[in-house]
Amino acid sequence: MGNNRDIIILGIESSCDDTSAAITRNNLMLSNEVSGQTVHIAYGGVVPELASRAHQQNIIPVVDLAIKNAGIYLDEISAVAFTRGPGLLGSLLVGTSFAKGFALAKNIPLIEVNHLQGHVLAHFLKEPSVEKKTPKFPFLCLLVSGGNSQIIVVRDHLDMEIIGQTIDDAAGEAFDKCAKVMGLPYPGGPLIDKLAKEGDAKAFKFAKPRIPGLDYSFSGLKTSFLYFIRDRMAENQNFIEENKADICASLQYTIIEVLMAKVKQAAKETGIRTIAVSGGVSANSGLRKALLDAAEKYNWEVHIPAFKFTTDNAAMIAITGYYKYLKGEFASQDAVPYSRVSLK
Ligand code: KG4
Repeated sequence: MGNNRDIIILGIESSCDDTSAAITRNNLMLSNEVSGQTVHIAYGGVVPELASRAHQQNIIPVVDLAIKNAGIYLDEISAVAFTRGPGLLGSLLVGTSFAKGFALAKNIPLIEVNHLQGHVLAHFLKEPSVEKKTPKFPFLCLLVSGGNSQIIVVRDHLDMEIIGQTIDDAAGEAFDKCAKVMGLPYPGGPLIDKLAKEGDAKAFKFAKPRIPGLDYSFSGLKTSFLYFIRDRMAENQNFIEENKADICASLQYTIIEVLMAKVKQAAKETGIRTIAVSGGVSANSGLRKALLDAAEKYNWEVHIPAFKFTTDNAAMIAITGYYKYLKGEFASQDAVPYSRVSLK
């Protein structure tokens, strides 16, 4: 195995509806176990109370599996890193409490991690026998998920600044809420992506928001989509069924146009040409293509994560914990979770 200067981190992620535990040795991922929660499907979205109950059930088996699959001994763990926020408070409390108890029991340091920082630093995770280039500082990171839409300037592993963010819904929410209007199951983002592949992106036009600066807004698009569907269904009850692929392709095209416009503006304003993307929506095939096209057109270096690192995972928390460990940034036992978006 490793030598005794290796830093082995147990990472814990429980900010939303995935319970995850991971082990890293320095910047190498040894295991990354995720237990999703199907209980929310019936409700068309995450129900916070149910999410925290499921985390309670999942946390010990997931941690146990992560340690076993990493092939390490419990006593080799140097520190435990946990997501302190932003996220759902009840969910965060489960991971936070577990991490505190673990750190106390094993007498090892506790490290608090900001979930957004974790998504960005997922780009620095190495996997055994996978060759991957890591982004050079400074770079811009477009963080797009079910709860977040931010443009972040990343100057160093732990030096980041949000320069643009949504003033209302996140990009993933726009996908999911519009999917719900169409009667598609939750989460609708991946389904829209799949259906869009067969459709014409120019078939329908949706209004794009006009928000100053680098901020985003998706609530207007969601409302205009709702009215569009309502009006067309009034004329033809089979409208969704007959045009599903075209509707999905046009909606996806609009969301990507909105996202990309601000990334281009951010690149222009900052002069930064290394662009990374993170978060659940970074799995979207249209967005990936748009970024690669822009890379060619504007001479950007684009970094797209492996699919397993797009959604919430503890490996990204563990790698952030590693960089904080190197700087001696440890948390105290009275650290409490926070729900609001920040980069603290
Ligand atoms: O990062 P994530 O797993 O967790 C949250 O922040 O909730 O992101 C989940 C979001 C959901 O809104 C989901 O619909 C969206 O990511 N998503 C996608 C795709 N895959 C996941 N959206 C569009 N296209 C996809 N392929």
